[in-house]
Parts: sequence; structure tokens; C-alpha cells
Amino acid sequence: MRKPLVVGNWKMHGSREMAKTLCAGIRAAGDAYIGVEVAVCPPYVLLPQVADSLRGSGIAWGAQDVSEHSAGAYTGEVSAGMLKDFDTRFVIVGHSERRALYGDTDVLTVGKLRQAATVGLVPILCVGETLEERRAGSTEAVVARQLDALLGAADAAQLLSSLVIAYEPVWAIGTGETATPDQAQAVHAFIRARLGATAADTRLLYGGSVKPGNAGELFAMPDIDGGLIGGAALKCEEFVAICHAARTRPGRS
Ligand code: PGA
Repeated sequence: MRKPLVVGNWKMHGSREMAKTLCAGIRAAGDAYIGVEVAVCPPYVLLPQVADSLRGSGIAWGAQDVSEHSAGAYTGEVSAGMLKDFDTRFVIVGHSERRALYGDTDVLTVGKLRQAATVGLVPILCVGETLEERRAGSTEAVVARQLDALLGAADAAQLLSSLVIAYEPVWAIGTGETATPDQAQAVHAFIRARLGATAADTRLLYGGSVKPGNAGELFAMPDIDGGLIGGAALKCEEFVAICHAARTRPGRS
């Protein structure tokens, strides 16, 4: 059974004050989450505070990135074990902003994913094409390449067992332009087919300008199991409404 999942990606936004207010608001709307798994991913420095604010609420927290190493002389990096130490449940890997701005490759992303899985975190692997790639008709080829780095790994079966995948077309991230439900569903179905045997249990999220107004129709698609939410995750009312939209979508088996 694939339980719907909604994850907020705060990106590099927030402060202690904002995190306190936003977490309290999200927590107070508990009824909206029945039947839905909900998580927020603040910047690293806010994780301890978010953990304290959400502990016992059933709402999970996650990080936006992780090192591909377990420990050592890697200035500025944060290990999976450190995240686990704060009871972190999820970690986003391979977000398109990491890929485009910080050079995260497919191989590096799998290394990060492996570290996360090793300590029992649930990695959220982001894949998706740019506008040029979509226009050139290479959406599936790009997504296949991003997935194949994982599927070709010797420990692929193990890595796939705990994984969440987020399809985030780069042209829809932070632009207000959303993939239509049909466009998103087509890529989700492609991803599920590519995953093979474990696919029926793997949750596939859609990300890219998800708002309260479009969440319901996206989440109604058969292969969309929830969302990875950027901008709207910073506004309590919008995030709660999106979680509520996922609730109306029954778990799929
Ligand atoms: P957006 O971001 O909802 O602001 O488009 C989504 C994401 O980058 O995960």
C-alpha cells in the first residue's frame, strides 16, 4: 500500500522564529493529515528546532541534502549519521538546484542516497528534465539516465527498498507553471515501469509549483502518490491545504 506523502522543501528560507510559527501552525492542523504522511525539510541549522517542535505530532522532518561520505575531513558537509541523530526521517537528494548550481551528478547523487539508506533515512531522489530537454522530446531519456545511475548499482535492490522518487520538471519549479496532470502522470508511469519489480510499492511524488488549487487534480492521478512542495510549503495555510488534498486520495496498492 502506498500511503500518500507530502513533503515541504523550505530551501534556503526561514529563521528560528519562522520555523517556530510555521511548525506550530502545521501541527495544529492535525486533522488534515489523517491517512497522509507529512514531512518538512528545513535548512540544516533549523533541524534541531523543527524536531523539537514536531516531535510526537506524527509529522516527520527531513534534510535537503547529505554528504556522500560517512565522516571525515569534508568541511561544510553534514553526514547521514548526524541527521539520524536528530531523528530525521527523510533526506532529499539530487534536487535540480543541487544538480544545476552545485554540480551534483547522477553518480554523486546515488552516493548520497546510499549514505542515507545505510543509516535508515528515507531518501527522496529528485529527477526531472529542463524545458530545453522537454522541447527536444528527451524527457524520458533524461529521467531514464537519472534513474539508471541507481538501477545499475550493485546494491540497487537494497537502495530501492526504502526510496521515494520525486518527479520535478525543472521548468515547473518555482515558476508558477505546473505540469498538467496528464503530463505528470505520463512521466510517473514511465518511472514506475522503469523501476521494475519494486515499483508497485515505491512512492512517486510530483513537484513543481504545486498549490492548493492544483494539488487535488495532480494527486488524483494513478501514479502520483503525493507532492514535494517548495514555495507553498512556506505558507501554513497553503501547505495544510495541499496535505488535505492528498488525504482525499486513497492509498494505492
Ligand atoms: P516549487 O518547488 O513548489 O516552489 O515549485 C518545488 C521544489 O523545488 O521541490
